[in-house]
Amino acid sequence: RPKVTLATLRKLYKRGEPITVMTAHDFPTGTLVDKAGIDMTLVGDSLAMVALGHTSTSEITIDEMLHHCRAVARGTRSSFLVADMAFGTYETSPDQAVTNAVRMMKEGKVEAVKLEGGKEMAPTIARLTQVGIPVLGHIGLTPQRQASLGGYKVQGKTVAKAKAMIEDAIALQQAGCYAIVLEAVPEPVARHITDILTIPTIGIGAGAGCSGQVLVQQDMLGLYGQVPRFCKTYRSLADDIVGALREFSADVKSRAFPAEEHCYPMPQEELKRFMT
Ligand code: KIV
Ligand code: NA
Repeated sequence: RPKVTLATLRKLYKRGEPITVMTAHDFPTGTLVDKAGIDMTLVGDSLAMVALGHTSTSEITIDEMLHHCRAVARGTRSSFLVADMAFGTYETSPDQAVTNAVRMMKEGKVEAVKLEGGKEMAPTIARLTQVGIPVLGHIGLTPQRQASLGGYKVQGKTVAKAKAMIEDAIALQQAGCYAIVLEAVPEPVARHITDILTIPTIGIGAGAGCSGQVLVQQDMLGLYGQVPRFCKTYRSLADDIVGALREFSADVKSRAFPAEEHCYPMPQEELKRFMT
C-alpha cells in the first residue's frame, strides 16, 4: 500500500470517502493498524489510561509520549502517523508549542501533532502550521480539560454551546489545521460543522455526518474496562485472553503442558552417552 500523506487524506476527503483513524500505543498495536490499511494512526494520549493505567490523560509526560511514539513509528509503514501533544506542553505559548511539537516529530518520528482546544489555541496552531508542522485539531469533549468540563460529558448540547463550537471549528480551520477531531458532539452539530468546513472532521461519538471516524483500539477490541456509548465493541478480546491464560494455568498444574511436541529432543547417540 502506498504511503498515506496529507495529499492522500485530502483526496479521500474531496471524493467523499470516509477517513479511517485508529489509535495505537506500541509496536504491535501500531503494526496491526498499519496492516489493516487504516488511513491514519493516532498515538493518542488515551494511552495514559488504556496502556499505563492512569485515571486521566493529563498525567502523561512528553517523554512518555515520545517513548510510545517511537515504538508505534517502528511498526508504521503506510499509515499517516499523528500523536497527541501532552497536557502542559503546548498551552503556555506558541514558542513552547513549537519547541515541543518539533520534539514530537524529530524524537517521536511522527508526521503531525494533535492538540486540544478551540479558538483560544488558534494563534498557537497558526504558528505550528506556518513552520511546517501539520496540526490535527480536537474540539468538543477535550479529555485533557475534563476537570474544568466537570467530567466526560457530551459537549454542544445547547444552541449557544453549539454556536461557540462552530466558531471554534472555523478558527481552527483558518489557523491551518489539516483536520479536526470532534469528540462527543450531538450528531446534528457535528454534521453542520462538517458541512461548513473545507477540511475533514474526524468523529468520535459525533455521528455519521463526519468526514471520518476514530476509535480507541483498546476500547473497540474489548481490552479496557467499560466502553462509552459511542464505541462499538468489535471484539471482546479480554475474555479470550483471560480464557487462554486460565487454560495455561490449568495445563501447567495438571502437567498437560508442555507436551512432547513442545520439547527439544537430543540426538539418539548423544542421549545414550548422556544417560550412562
Ligand atoms: O487520545 C486519544 O485516543 C484521542 C482520540 C480518542 C481522538 O484523542
Ligand atoms: Na487524546
